Amino acid sequence: MIYQVKFTLDEIEEVAKSLINEINDVNLILFKGELGSGKTTLIKSILKNLGVKENITSPTFSIVNQYLISNRLINHFDLYRIKSLTELDVIGFEEYLESGAVCFIEWPEIAMSKIIDNYIEIYIKFINEKTREITLK
Ligand SMILES: Nc1ncnc2c1ncn2[C@@H]1O[C@H](COP(=O)(O)OP(=O)(O)O)[C@@H](O)[C@H]1O
Ligand SMILES: [Mg+2]
Repeated sequence: MIYQVKFTLDEIEEVAKSLINEINDVNLILFKGELGSGKTTLIKSILKNLGVKENITSPTFSIVNQYLISNRLINHFDLYRIKSLTELDVIGFEEYLESGAVCFIEWPEIAMSKIIDNYIEIYIKFINEKTREITLK
């Protein structure tokens, strides 16, 4: 399945909702794209539309933030600061994957050798100040 759409912040909620639809029962969702392309902003909108009521922050420093939505755990990772597979082991990355919880992963590149399960990849591209384009594979 291939899906591509351009959107502004005014339209991000609509995009988040259609992504939730596309994601369906896939647990691993990878977000690729340059710094500032909008990965965190899009994941925040997805989490909000999945029902997260609390304040959603970027896991840049925490590496992973967890949310509980109607008894289902969702992990939001930002692997930007992870520089080796050893560091991934230290945070117990594989255990998170094996737990079967939904994982949204920014900067998944370092972890690709551990990501073998069925996953969806969302690539975000900066078009201009207000507009981004996502490509979903
Ligand atoms: N259409 C858009 N979609 C997502 N972010 C946008 C959009 N237009 C502007 N922005 C801004 O771009 C920035 C994206 O930052 P962020 O989501 O932290 O990026 P990343 O997580 O990819 O580094 C935010 O300041 C956001 O407000
Ligand atoms: Mg980010």
